[in-house]
Amino acid sequence: MLAPLSFRQAGLDDALCISGLATQVFLDTYANHGMRPDLAEEALNVYAPKEFRQRLAEPDRVLLLAEQNGHLQGFAEIRPSSEAPLAQLVQGYELVRLYVQRHAQRQGIGQALLEHAEHLTRDRGASCLWLSAWAENHSALAFYQTQGYAVVGNRTYEFGGNAYANQLLSKAC
Ligand SMILES: CC(C)(COP(=O)(O)OP(=O)(O)OC[C@H]1O[C@@H](n2cnc3c(N)ncnc32)[C@H](O)[C@@H]1OP(=O)(O)O)[C@@H](O)C(=O)NCCC(=O)NCCS
Repeated sequence: MLAPLSFRQAGLDDALCISGLATQVFLDTYANHGMRPDLAEEALNVYAPKEFRQRLAEPDRVLLLAEQNGHLQGFAEIRPSSEAPLAQLVQGYELVRLYVQRHAQRQGIGQALLEHAEHLTRDRGASCLWLSAWAENHSALAFYQTQGYAVVGNRTYEFGGNAYANQLLSKAC
């Protein structure tokens, strides 16, 4: 029988495992046609343990972990909207990342992490939780729509000299 899932807020010591899982899920999701320098750079730099250690040290940013048998299965990362792309999102919190390892997907972990993130957002007096998702990430867009998120706009995400169309989604708290 599988051990139950447990949820907790991450501390500095969790940076290594978060980095490992984030790198794996990022490449699994976005390097779906093979590897390119911009993807490899994003994975190895932006998702490096020291970068997560820095994020974890920020007082307003929260990373929520889902674990089973002491193994990380997924995480959600939220922060106050510092540079919101739309005026209506300024008083909200941003869901920066929601990553569940492939073998653990479709077991309710993403939904549970998102609900925890929404509770925290509400507790902090924010008006909404919003996120930006790659327009080609059809599974994620389908997931968010089942969780009550509505498309509120578009924006372009640039890295490595390439531009990616993203959709902005939001849910009132
Ligand atoms: C998107 C993601 C977070 C969803 O997490 P998950 O744990 O797999 O999703 P859940 O099991 O909680 O799904 C809850 C419901 O959402 C919907 N859903 C989830 N994945 C779906 C998909 N691929 N297609 C359509 N609906 C989906 C379903 O209604 C599902 O309920 P069901 O399984 O009973 O039908 C996860 O697939 C993931 O980490 N993907 C890779 C990284 C990523 O794209 N993150 C988001 C970036 S913006």
